[in-house]
Amino acid sequence: MSGGQIGNTCVFGLSWGDEGKGKIVDLLSSHFGLVVRFNGGANAGHTVCVDNEKYALHLLPAGVLHEHTVGVIGPGVVVDPLGLIEEIDELASRGINVEKKLKISERAHLVMAYHKIEDRLSEQASGSGSRIGTTARGIGPCYADKMKRTTAVRFIDLLHDDDLSGRIRRIVAAKKASFQALYGDDDGLDADAVLADIDVGRTRLSDLITDTTELLHGAIQSDQQILFEGANGLLLDIDHGTYPYVTSSSTGPHGIGAGAGVPASVLKHRIGVVKAYSTRVGAGPFVSELADETGDRIREAGHEYGTTTGRPRRCGWFDAVSIRYAAQVSDATHVALMHLDTLSGFAEVGLCTAYRIGNQTVQSFPACTSLLEQAEPIVEMLPGWNGDLRSIRSFDALPESARAYVQRIESVVGVPVSIIGVGPDRSQTLVRDPLRNVLPVPETSTV
Ligand code: IMP
Repeated sequence: MSGGQIGNTCVFGLSWGDEGKGKIVDLLSSHFGLVVRFNGGANAGHTVCVDNEKYALHLLPAGVLHEHTVGVIGPGVVVDPLGLIEEIDELASRGINVEKKLKISERAHLVMAYHKIEDRLSEQASGSGSRIGTTARGIGPCYADKMKRTTAVRFIDLLHDDDLSGRIRRIVAAKKASFQALYGDDDGLDADAVLADIDVGRTRLSDLITDTTELLHGAIQSDQQILFEGANGLLLDIDHGTYPYVTSSSTGPHGIGAGAGVPASVLKHRIGVVKAYSTRVGAGPFVSELADETGDRIREAGHEYGTTTGRPRRCGWFDAVSIRYAAQVSDATHVALMHLDTLSGFAEVGLCTAYRIGNQTVQSFPACTSLLEQAEPIVEMLPGWNGDLRSIRSFDALPESARAYVQRIESVVGVPVSIIGVGPDRSQTLVRDPLRNVLPVPETSTV
């Protein structure tokens, strides 16, 4: 499968992450010369299943598994250099060499050991009511330093800052003092160890550091097609998500301008990925959550345990209120609805179409955490379906009630469901018009 003119595309999550973006990226990436990460860091977990082999990627763009794609880590990504090297080496040990076709922006920021320590200590120190439940990958503290500016380190500094060692020593001394004052602990933070990490990063990654902004603009001018991979999900977006229970970056197509250095107007398709039910890891409001046997059943059927942290995911019915909002904010042109097969065997499936807050019925998504926490889901129950959907290859061949469920989601969310996942393999994907005109029917996975 190769090469039709699809147009620049962004694949991103419409929910709280873990929507199955990796699979959609894998499906699309054979059409693109460049695959780009523009936000987040190793908090993301993209699982791609190829030839029955599972690959869990955190920092690398998932599309880089394809032989001909160049992977770009844009200015808006926060990169743990040791984590990235580990990921590159793990792939190499399994016969996939990405090192020669990976580019890291000079402008991207480094996640340092002290960011991970701060993430952990600050979460431990927060009471259970105010803990965010982060992935402990140092994401928030690194973005905070980026905004603070004087305590940040960018990849360009590895190549051009003559005083980097002195600066790191001063930063580490300040961090140690602040951790001791705030938490009474600095987890053994040591400047020499941080400098040793930086040396490893410089030795292994220097050749990959480049001006990715110029690279991408050159690609646009020469009509190469670019696939942008959003990490996390729209409801975890720093501005539009369920603040403060969010991550620290812009997770949707609007993040491309800031995080990749190219305008979002280059996009032809904005594919919002979401599961046929809702999940969330970490703390924060989740109106349609099923903290009962039905939720447990969805978790086991969908293997809903975190790729990055292994944590069991909270599960619930499809929350159309939040997804409609996320689709509006991101101007999604298509929805990719994943894991439809997971809902097989339920007598009825639920769709949360509105919230009841006090004596009001609300269809817009509230900004206020305590209102979201009080909100009760108004759930429409639709007939379920039986049977294994994994061998089905067209929308029309789905059981009637599965089709009706998808159509109801389309009408409530207001965006066409153009891709449907009916199993983990690339071939277990249904592509509907109008995307079917540009995307050939998916084949079984091969890299
Ligand atoms: P952080 O991004 O590690 O700071 O975590 C902030 C919140 O976002 C926590 O609730 C995390 O569980 C959640 N989160 C961040 N990235 C992902 C993701 O890729 N999938 C699911 N949840 C995520």
